[in-house]
Amino acid sequence: MSRSLRAELLGWLLLPLAAVVAFNGWSLHRDATRTADLITDRTLLASARVIAEQVKEADGRIESMIPPSALEMFASPDRDKVIYRVLSPSGELIAGFPDVVEPPMRPRGLEPAYYEGQFRTQAMRAVALAQPVISKVDGGNALVIVATTLHGRDRLVDEIWLTSLRDQLVLVGIAALLTLFGLRRGLAPLLRLRNELRSRNPESLKALDRGGVQSELRPMIDALNHALERVQAYIALQRRFVADASHQLRTPLAVLKTQVAMARRDDDPQMRGEALAAIEGGVDGMGRLVNQLLTLARAEPGGAALRKEALDFGEVARSATESLAGIAFDRAIDLSFDGAPEPLSVVGHVTLLRELVVNLVENALRHIPRHGAVSVRLAREGGQVLLAVEDNGPGIAAADRERVFERFHRLAPSTIEGTGLGLAIVKEIVAAHDGAILLMETQPPPGLRVEVRLPAAAPEPPPG
Ligand SMILES: Nc1ncnc2c1ncn2[C@@H]1O[C@H](COP(=O)(O)OP(=O)(O)O)[C@@H](O)[C@H]1O
Ligand SMILES: [Mg+2]
Repeated sequence: MSRSLRAELLGWLLLPLAAVVAFNGWSLHRDATRTADLITDRTLLASARVIAEQVKEADGRIESMIPPSALEMFASPDRDKVIYRVLSPSGELIAGFPDVVEPPMRPRGLEPAYYEGQFRTQAMRAVALAQPVISKVDGGNALVIVATTLHGRDRLVDEIWLTSLRDQLVLVGIAALLTLFGLRRGLAPLLRLRNELRSRNPESLKALDRGGVQSELRPMIDALNHALERVQAYIALQRRFVADASHQLRTPLAVLKTQVAMARRDDDPQMRGEALAAIEGGVDGMGRLVNQLLTLARAEPGGAALRKEALDFGEVARSATESLAGIAFDRAIDLSFDGAPEPLSVVGHVTLLRELVVNLVENALRHIPRHGAVSVRLAREGGQVLLAVEDNGPGIAAADRERVFERFHRLAPSTIEGTGLGLAIVKEIVAAHDGAILLMETQPPPGLRVEVRLPAAAPEPPPG
């Protein structure tokens, strides 16, 4: 499922805010009700006090006058109904409605008691107030109850809490809009990059413009540009390689064609035989070249997936060296092999590692004069396995030690067989095995010493 930055950010912003607003709404409503009740209660009490003051004995009877001011204080646009009831100390109704809501319990002492109840069909808030009456007839506390309907109170509550709630909702709405707006602005450079990438020529590997992009995104653009650069370099390398390879194949093909033409023309069987032998040599050379090109393709990063395994590099090097004994014999070269006493465990690709040794030893055998000497030595050096191939030929000048690793770069005269790919292949194989290679002079010169170091695998547990 694709995730939307917009939806995610809005979700993170709006859901918690909605919860906060809901809680605020609840607590605002509670506080507003408290405030409105307090105001209602004040009015109720004031009204009850005015009425209570008028309760007195006259002509041996307790009576109560209801002054108009006692009820006027409730005047409001809400037309709340106000009712009252006054009971003499003996419980006789002396004013008001008989069925005004009774307090749940009588007020204790002279403290007013506030309560809510139902009067006929209407919810009311009421106060009950005890009023001491001095009288010989009916002494004690008279009870004054004043009650009012709740329209005014409810409107006040709504006014207080709905206004606050609306303000908060507006705030949340503004926050959401600003977030969307900010995202739109923030994402604009990315969208511009996307459009630029979409509309660009498929071959273009030009770096992306990082101007106008936020600092947080710059590392990403830089990484992308870096990757593009590498792709560019890689493609250039491949192009050159293909061009070089076809050039390398075209020359021997042209030579072959002339040789074939000559063999056709020649009637002398001996000359014809020589021409055919030359053709065979040419075909062999081309076969070698094609094989080396394939090895190179395989050793390259991203080439055929390398299946590596633990192997004894000493054994691989020994058999590779042995396979070259024929060349050493033909050129009367003293080829010596000096293996390590213990197995040299390495995690690697057996065919490629064999190719590495063959290329180095074959170079030594071919690039030195006849009757020379070549030694192959193996050793374990700490966490590494060392392969050293030494010869007593002309060596490679320090200035050329980098360039000989380039593909098709040869210093040797064309009389010496070769494709110029050997050291390039060796370099790729060493890299594919996280190793290192070094060319140096022999001690004493002249001669070439090639050192290859590969990371050693954990040694095999000793038998038994
Ligand atoms: N042991 C060596 N002694 C002297 N020169 C060497 C030796 N090995 C390689 N070279 C030089 O490095 C060049 C590149 O080697 P390489 O890539 O194997 O190509 P090739 O052997 O096909 O010419 C060779 O042409 C040769 O000039
Ligand atoms: Mg070579």
